[in-house]
Amino acid sequence: MDKQTLLSRNSFLKLITGLGTGLFLWTWYRLGESQELQESQVEFRHSVDIPLGVNHFGKYYLYRKGDTVLAFSTTCTHAGCRIGKAGNDILRCGCHGSRFEAATGKPMQGPALHPLQQLDCRFDSNNNQWVVKLQVLKGKNRYDGKEHEGVKF
Ligand code: FES
Repeated sequence: MDKQTLLSRNSFLKLITGLGTGLFLWTWYRLGESQELQESQVEFRHSVDIPLGVNHFGKYYLYRKGDTVLAFSTTCTHAGCRIGKAGNDILRCGCHGSRFEAATGKPMQGPALHPLQQLDCRFDSNNNQWVVKLQVLKGKNRYDGKEHEGVKF
């Protein structure tokens, strides 16, 4: 076997390995996207008598103040860790210590710079339940200087 044939075999193997890796990564990315889309369509229902203040439910928490209920993601906006409760109206991320105001999701202490993402939360008057979807409310998850309101329908 001459040296030139060996080199072309090596090049061919590198090409196949590169294409295989690319295909694997593309499939992985598409599966993640599809799962995220499915998750955003799922409805989580809660009775009308949600306690005042912070109520944790894994991937999100509900914040009730009077008759208003807001939903926020519990994914830290710094590096994606799950946040927990630190005080009555304060949430803390255990990874790097960011603190967030529960009522608005605004960061009170870094390293997180962005507020927690506000999620779709509506009142279903037919069933007398609060309905939460893991769908981010566009334009509501940044500092906008306005009070974040739950939507009743
Ligand atoms: S991931 Fe939350 S502070 Fe870094």
